[in-house]
Amino acid sequence: MIVDVLTIFPEYLAPLELSLAGKAREKGLIDVRVHDLRQWTHDRHRTVDDTPYGGGAGMVMKPEPWGEAFDALLGEGEVDGVTVVFTTPSGQPFTQAVARELAARDRIVFACGRYEGIDQRVVEDIATRAEVREISLGDYVLNGGEVAALAITEAVVRLVPGFMGNAASLVEESHEDGLLEYPVYTKPAAWRGREVPPVLLSGDHAAIAAWRHDQAVRRTAERRPDLAPASVLLEDVEIRPVQPADAGELYVLQRACWVQEQHDNPGVRIPALHETYDDLRAWIARDTVLVARSAGRLVGAVRASLDGESWDIGRLMVAPDLAGRGLGRTLLERIEALAPEAASTYALFTGAGSVRNQRIYKKAGYRLRGEVEPGVVRMTKPVRR
Ligand code: ADE
Repeated sequence: MIVDVLTIFPEYLAPLELSLAGKAREKGLIDVRVHDLRQWTHDRHRTVDDTPYGGGAGMVMKPEPWGEAFDALLGEGEVDGVTVVFTTPSGQPFTQAVARELAARDRIVFACGRYEGIDQRVVEDIATRAEVREISLGDYVLNGGEVAALAITEAVVRLVPGFMGNAASLVEESHEDGLLEYPVYTKPAAWRGREVPPVLLSGDHAAIAAWRHDQAVRRTAERRPDLAPASVLLEDVEIRPVQPADAGELYVLQRACWVQEQHDNPGVRIPALHETYDDLRAWIARDTVLVARSAGRLVGAVRASLDGESWDIGRLMVAPDLAGRGLGRTLLERIEALAPEAASTYALFTGAGSVRNQRIYKKAGYRLRGEVEPGVVRMTKPVRR
């Protein structure tokens, strides 16, 4: 296997050329070649970066040196058996499964980005000629992709048949919520027939921010559905005030959602499981009630009413197949936002045995205030305006 590394810090890769490659080279399994990206610059300062189109902090790596470097390493036509790996915190997570796939390739070319990243057109351009993967080492930001290239090479090389014994087992990671980075661009505005998205040249900062957010949401939804931030989920979920026509579905959803609650709180009488359809129709007419719909289906709801200075929130429900994706949290935020001026406290009631609910409410800033009746606890949070 040939491993090329393109970097502006070739010295960083010294460990590759020494120990690991030494052992692999002895066995004739791997040939590591480290290249200084600056050799494909032509100005006095050997410039590799420029300011981002659309504004924002930091610098973006220019496309030209990268384009020339790939042309020099791979030629200008399509290549088989080659994977170009862009090491970036916005890539797909690196796992043992990815390492196995890479170990089956003839050649890996690492493109080590620095600063805010590489002009997105470089990725698009090389993807027309070779397999491209954007890979992240994990949900943290390194100063550049060199350490990731080292780590990936180490994981891959040991899987190349003949280097070592069996592959190590897959380790699953858990990450914090968050969106992936949007694509970035720098000068020139047109490069190899590719235009920078026009919105970035518009000078309209609100439009740029909205475009970038949209790109980030799309990328996250495509590449990291496991992160499932509420904003992604909410793309096809509509939250609106209840209407009388929602009553039937709401009645059914409520019954389904409180069965687990009864299981967790044996002996507690749970109104949501006992009230009649007419009871429900009465409170949806009286209280502030929001419902969530997805693809025409009722998938969540929440209600609130003012009691003195307390905005009493209840009946927070989410269809079981959508649980754990941020909809409950979003419904809670929306109903909190509807608290009238007179409210100084948000209050919630839940079962003393409903550990999961209590954990969710604590995460949302609520504190336990004790049992209000046997088996039922009150949780509150101050209203901050
Ligand atoms: N470059 C900067 N941070 C990175 C990360 N987490 N993974 C891969 N490349 C990176």
